[in-house]
Amino acid sequence: MRILTGIQASGKPHLGNILGAIIPAIELSKQPGNDSFLFIADLHTLTSLKEGESIRNNTLSVAAAWLAFGFDTEKNYFYRQSKLAPYHTELMWYLNCFTPFPMLANAHSFKDKAEKLSDVNAGLFTYPVLQAADIVLYDAQIIPVGKDQRQHIEMTRDIANSVNKKYNKDIFVLPDAKINEEVMTIPGVDGAKMSKSLNNYIDIFLPESELLKQIKKIVTDTTALENPKDPDQDITFKLYQLMASKSEIAEMRANYLAGGYGYGHAKQALFNLMLNYFKEAREKFDFYMSHPELIEEKLQIGEKKVKPIAEATIARIRAEFKF
Ligand code: ADP
Ligand code: TRP
Repeated sequence: MRILTGIQASGKPHLGNILGAIIPAIELSKQPGNDSFLFIADLHTLTSLKEGESIRNNTLSVAAAWLAFGFDTEKNYFYRQSKLAPYHTELMWYLNCFTPFPMLANAHSFKDKAEKLSDVNAGLFTYPVLQAADIVLYDAQIIPVGKDQRQHIEMTRDIANSVNKKYNKDIFVLPDAKINEEVMTIPGVDGAKMSKSLNNYIDIFLPESELLKQIKKIVTDTTALENPKDPDQDITFKLYQLMASKSEIAEMRANYLAGGYGYGHAKQALFNLMLNYFKEAREKFDFYMSHPELIEEKLQIGEKKVKPIAEATIARIRAEFKF
């Protein structure tokens, strides 16, 4: 199967991104017979972020995170959308001409921001068409994404299908979204969904003392140290459960229920667990961040490797227009 997913260069990946998206996508890429296309959607990032330095730093940290968790860039495809911009944007134009206006007007990505239309740039409005181009350009079949992206994949199918219908041949592959419903929403330090925009995230790549500070910000109730506590209502326990072994979870649960075990102890245990669980990833992340030239090299190899695939798709569609 040909798997493809894009990640915006909008910040450094946090614990929610890592457990919810990065690790599952890497697992998928390791299954025999799967080819994974993983790219940094830096053209999409421009809809919200215009500072080159930030885009560059975010691109590096997103790429370093994927490498730190073992994405095999030799077996798979790893690239920046901007480096193949001529293909992505050319195809986007063709797809624009097959996209009904009301479809875009109904996109959540646009509607969520549509109260103040003067703040909406045309890039944000046509964002789903660029995403459709990203996908059909590489004949991708399976698109692993979060629930919020379901509509964009459906739009991709509709747009691609209307091209195929018009010319009565399978010019584009129609993709399916793979939405892992059971991947739980990872809570942030305040208990709401962990998110960059809510500023409630845990950055697993921070130096130890800063990581501990973030963990200490986890909100707890006011049950006294000596009293029993309900593990299932507690954010620290919820996070601990995502990474600990069965016996560690059972032990922590018993500690909560017994009393005499404070939230401070639990947070320290979560901190120790995370240092251990992410030991290798933290080291690799730091290594890549201090060797951006290695990231650059891997991306450039990937960009060369995907180019012929993009060219072939463009040739297929151009042929229909006699261009
Ligand atoms: P953010 O909300 O921090 O801006 P993004 O929307 O960029 O994160 O999400 C990138 C990927 O990480 C998506 O696939 C998304 O489903 C996943 N993801 C983000 N936050 C969480 C979370 N709290 N729990 C599980 N998965 C998450
Ligand atoms: N819109 C996606 C997001 O914000 C990123 C993205 C761009 C993407 N192009 C894609 C995801 C193609 C999957 C396939 O998360």
